[in-house]
Amino acid sequence: MSTERPSASPESSPARPAAPPSERPGRGRPAQPPERIVLPGLTLRRPVEDDLPALVTALNESFEHLRPWMPWATGPQTLEQERAWLAATRRAWDEGTEYVYLLETSDGGRAGGKGAGGKGAGGKGAGGKGADGSAVGGGIAGTVGLHDRLGPDALEIGYWVHVAHTGRGLATRAAGALTEVALGLPGVERVEIRCDVANKRSAAVPPRLGYWLLGIEDGVPQAPAEQGRSMRWVMTREAWSRRNADLA
Ligand SMILES: CC(C)(COP(=O)(O)OP(=O)(O)OC[C@H]1O[C@@H](n2cnc3c(N)ncnc32)[C@H](O)[C@@H]1OP(=O)(O)O)[C@@H](O)C(=O)NCCC(=O)NCCS
Repeated sequence: MSTERPSASPESSPARPAAPPSERPGRGRPAQPPERIVLPGLTLRRPVEDDLPALVTALNESFEHLRPWMPWATGPQTLEQERAWLAATRRAWDEGTEYVYLLETSDGGRAGGKGAGGKGAGGKGAGGKGADGSAVGGGIAGTVGLHDRLGPDALEIGYWVHVAHTGRGLATRAAGALTEVALGLPGVERVEIRCDVANKRSAAVPPRLGYWLLGIEDGVPQAPAEQGRSMRWVMTREAWSRRNADLA
């Protein structure tokens, strides 16, 4: 089961203490990922305290969309809950066990998403681009994270996207950017994306990036719509390099 918020959900916490990044094998690669990743029209950035109100809004606007699949989406989120989550996830970043990014689009992104369902276009803020080309002014379009819970040489990617931003490739693009980042970290040879077999929209993301299905593991449902059978999608450093070379 893949979720980007294990700091708040004990069932998906790492089963073992992760080695600090500085102690992992690997030479000449950065020990920590960048705090900000700028793609055309989409910025991934480490969350800060000021993001909390917008994050609570995004989560609550997306509640019905998240509830079937995210074990932690059991009711409306509060500022206090998100403050605790933020503290935990920032600590995890410093410890090298989890790197969670907010997704921000330069257009605010509320129009055009498949789940928009008539919500007003534009979202929060006016949209536009910062001096560095990064997205500013949009609401929070979701989160994506790297999680150290698969063993010493692997990281797992988890994601959720605001209901009004779905169907635009945001999860795919964000997961692609984090695959690149993860495989550039010391000692990381493999990245996995895990999702329940019933979660077709999530399962469509990894093959778009060239991940292949390693297997399906039986387990117990963690969220209301899950069947409890977890697909393991995998990408290795070697396969990613080959893919990048083919795309170049
Ligand atoms: C699963 C989830 C993250 C998918 O988010 P998403 O941003 O819609 O997913 P994608 O990035 O795959 O978007 C793909 C769609 O955008 C379109 N798209 C547009 N531009 C694209 C681009 N540059 N790259 C890829 N797809 C693009 C695709 O054609 C596709 O459309 P389709 O659905 O008609 O096939 C989202 O539905 C969600 O948050 N679900 C609830 C939480 C959840 O299940 N999380 C995962 C738990 S394992």
